[in-house]
Amino acid sequence: MSSNAIVQTNIPGYPCRRGKVRDVYDLGNRLVIIATDRISAFDWVLPTPIPDKGRILTELSCFWFRYLAVPNHLIDTDPTAMPEAFRQQADALRGRSMLVRKTEVVPFECVVRGYLAGSGWKDYRKTGSVCGIALPSGLRESDRLSEPLFTPATKAESGHDENVPFELMASQIGQKTAEELRSRSVDVYLRAAEYARKRGVIIADTKFEWGRLPSGEIILIDEVLTPDSSRFWPGDQYAPGGAQASYDKQFVRDWLESTTWDKNSTPPALPSEVVEKTRAKYMEALEILVRSDPL
Ligand SMILES: Nc1ncnc2c1ncn2[C@@H]1O[C@H](COP(=O)(O)OP(=O)(O)OP(=O)(O)O)[C@@H](O)[C@H]1O
Ligand SMILES: [Mg+2]
Repeated sequence: MSSNAIVQTNIPGYPCRRGKVRDVYDLGNRLVIIATDRISAFDWVLPTPIPDKGRILTELSCFWFRYLAVPNHLIDTDPTAMPEAFRQQADALRGRSMLVRKTEVVPFECVVRGYLAGSGWKDYRKTGSVCGIALPSGLRESDRLSEPLFTPATKAESGHDENVPFELMASQIGQKTAEELRSRSVDVYLRAAEYARKRGVIIADTKFEWGRLPSGEIILIDEVLTPDSSRFWPGDQYAPGGAQASYDKQFVRDWLESTTWDKNSTPPALPSEVVEKTRAKYMEALEILVRSDPL
């Protein structure tokens, strides 16, 4: 992998929507999703990119699409399969681009939790339940749940997602569709978690997005099972009763917390040591899950 970080892409001739991390070009009935090396934390895009991060996330997503073999949006990753304007920048785009089928996005993030962490843990501490699902008392932070919970969230405009009860999702998209997405999301989570477990990685939770094709069929879209959409924990260090080490932007978050930054203004640039350590963490997840020898 080269280490020339890509902060933003510019492909002439196609409408582009920039998320915090990805640039999404609209080709009509298809999209090209390009994962840049931007990194976000505390809902801010940081001024310093993490070289190769976009490639690492793309390789992970594409691996899972192949491994899971559920109907999904991926068509091709080779820039030469894309329109001329993309082919002209093939070298920069290779490894970080996905040509996908455009769908009508189901407006709920399909979150599956196998362990009690993040907003699930906060909710449990306050209410004894997670998104309205009652749990036994006495659970600790990071405890494994007896079965995975489906806890949908709305895609809030502010960028901060809001957990909602399953019934709300069902009332908006229909009971049958909501149940189908719950069962498909839990199924994908369980299969991925089992694969990762054998390699010493815990997938504590993850978020899926689903979208509807013009035919009506609902397929898996967006990125899947990356450190940006999931909590990956090293299994050999797992110790419930507190927060866990993870294969993501932990170093970045910890470092930001150690500065005087108020989280309400432009974040500070990252020191090179933090960049390197973060890149190494993302890389480690990729090596273990995708590039290691088959078991
Ligand atoms: N096959 C698809 N059809 C339609 N939209 C898709 C498809 N795959 C992904 N998307 C959408 O593309 C966008 C991906 O960009 P990205 O994740 O960077 O932005 P975001 O999630 O909207 O914003 P942010 O990440 O900044 O919170 C998401 O809005 C996602 O819902
Ligand atoms: Mg997103």
